[in-house]
Amino acid sequence: MKTLIIYYSLDGNTHMIAEEIKNSINADILRLKPVHDINKKGLFKILSGGKQVLRNEKPALEAFNINPEDYDLIFIGTPVWAGTFAPALNTFLSETAVKNKNIVLFCCSRGGKGKVFIKLCDILRENNIIGEMEFLSPAKSNPDEVNIKVKTWVDDIIEKLD
Ligand SMILES: Cc1cc2nc3c(=O)[nH]c(=O)nc-3n(C[C@H](O)[C@H](O)[C@H](O)COP(=O)(O)O)c2cc1C
Repeated sequence: MKTLIIYYSLDGNTHMIAEEIKNSINADILRLKPVHDINKKGLFKILSGGKQVLRNEKPALEAFNINPEDYDLIFIGTPVWAGTFAPALNTFLSETAVKNKNIVLFCCSRGGKGKVFIKLCDILRENNIIGEMEFLSPAKSNPDEVNIKVKTWVDDIIEKLD
């Protein structure tokens, strides 16, 4: 079974979870990087990111040479922005066909996941969604606890697929 982890991360939380997943399962990893990302140091970070979401923007992404078609199981991760997934995933999902795959969704938030999974499940409805998990500010949490949570969760998913 070939596994891919696709994610976007602005501040490192989703990156941390993606790396933890990679430590638990043999997988390739693709970090989506907007050519021009929002300024993560600015006071207006929430406003400019929220505006991108409300305008349904699809920021151009840096080129990548991974094709989801080549994989059986795909983890897709995003921070929650304004109650949904980040614009970089909007670009990816509108430009890349993802069909007939086993999909696992994960998000990082400050506790308000909103409709992130509902929306992703809808866009990815031609796939088999086999899991979803919200992580609350993992970069500020106890790393050992995050590690155990991810490992237990990934083990459960693999067991389901066996
Ligand atoms: C533009 C923007 C909008 C956000 N909206 C939400 C939200 O609706 N609900 C929430 O719980 N957290 C929200 N957050 C917080 C992030 O989801 C949270 O800090 C997450 O862990 C960041 O992941 P990252 O470090 O991978 O970028 C928002 C952050 C940004 C920058």
